[in-house]
Amino acid sequence: MGTLLFDAALRAELPVASSCSAAFVCGRCDMEIVDNPQALSPQKEIELALLKRQGRPAHRRISCVTRVFGDCTVTTTYW
Ligand code: FES
Repeated sequence: MGTLLFDAALRAELPVASSCSAAFVCGRCDMEIVDNPQALSPQKEIELALLKRQGRPAHRRISCVTRVFGDCTVTTTYW
């Protein structure tokens, strides 16, 4: 089933921005995929809608709804 990208980052002791506690409301947990996007769950319309609503680029991923199935590299603006 994969691990949520949000949880994987926290387990790696990386900070993840959030004002909704991973409830898929705020969009602040978005991340940029640097390498191997195939290791992530496909992006759904609802995720694209939240990115648009929050004024974030469509290629970013909302980490609290994105699942990780393998090695990948991500970054965000505050790391
Ligand atoms: S933590 Fe708020 S949308 Fe992910």
